[in-house]
Amino acid sequence: MKCKVYVTRRLPEEMIDKLSSHFEVTMWEEEEIPVPREVLLKEVEEVDGLICLLTDSIDEEVLTKAQHLKVISSCSVGYNHIDVQAAAKRGIVVTNTPGVLTETTADLTFTLLMTTARRVVEASDFLRSGEWGAWSLMQLTGQDVYGATLGIIGFGRIGEALVKRAKGFDMNVLYHSRTRKEEKEEELGIHYAELGVLLQQSDFVCLLLPYSPEVHHLIGKEELLLMKRTAILINTARGGIVDEEALYQALKAGDIWAAGLDVFEQEPVPLDHPLLSLPNVVMLPHIGSASIQTRMKMARLAVDNLTNVLTGEEPINPIFV
Ligand code: NAP
Ligand code: GLV
Repeated sequence: MKCKVYVTRRLPEEMIDKLSSHFEVTMWEEEEIPVPREVLLKEVEEVDGLICLLTDSIDEEVLTKAQHLKVISSCSVGYNHIDVQAAAKRGIVVTNTPGVLTETTADLTFTLLMTTARRVVEASDFLRSGEWGAWSLMQLTGQDVYGATLGIIGFGRIGEALVKRAKGFDMNVLYHSRTRKEEKEEELGIHYAELGVLLQQSDFVCLLLPYSPEVHHLIGKEELLLMKRTAILINTARGGIVDEEALYQALKAGDIWAAGLDVFEQEPVPLDHPLLSLPNVVMLPHIGSASIQTRMKMARLAVDNLTNVLTGEEPINPIFV
């Protein structure tokens, strides 16, 4: 008998065909709308495998319903939406899609850094709204990227890929991470710094660490006050790492200069979010890995991880707890 698989969002045809050649597949057919919670809770009851996105909370309640589940394959590198401890206790394998999205996400992180530094969105709005009366010396002036100091918090795959971009701009790079990586310091010409030092010395602070309850609001009022008044905060990791209320106050008061955000505590961002009222914030709808090529690679990898587990092979990207 074929294993049963549930997919929480419409996948490209190539992946559906591949899955269907091995398994009995049911899918939430929408591309833009997440599977409703009650549908997910019902669908997991009978299945052996689940392919999910970062919008699906796979928690104790889901796992309790999923009595036959053997594998949860997330089409994302971050896995804070999955209770991996609870899954491990039940012997359920959890997989993610690291590596294939590294360069694309580093590109977006650097794009956000440059866009924010040079006020690109503000400048475009200025022109479109007819405010551009004449060229003037200090009009829409931003911060230099070339030769500035970049501080990376969470130095893993994407952090390292970001360094390659920064080196092309002759940036001085500081990093702070859970583990110090001396061989990378030598190889890439970067320097380790304690969190407070990094915050004080950086012109750009980029967050690239995974979210967990331990790093909830790692960047709050005190940390923002340590930063230079000319500094820019970039978050392409997870929204919960930054205290958004504290960030709003810091930006409004001029304690830091600007912020570039791809991720938020609540996604989608509500339209009355205070940060949306500030000109010195660039906000994107979580598009870090959103190139056609990379999203196809992520979907293929998620399918391959699930297929491997259900056909008795080793998963390519198991998450160890
Ligand atoms: P990674 O290779 O696992 O790198 C994460 C790094 O963060 C690791 O080096 C890790 O240290 C470090 N770290 C973990 N906990 C930390 C802590 N408490 N304090 C300081 N550093 C800590 O992951 P990645 O592939 O670079 O991805 C990083 C994150 O980016 C993902 O988890 C995801 O949330 C986010 N992301 C967002 C998008 C987007 O669309 N915006 C796209 C892709 C990824 P160790 O080396 O000691 O483990
Ligand atoms: C995106 O945020 C991911 O974790 O893949």
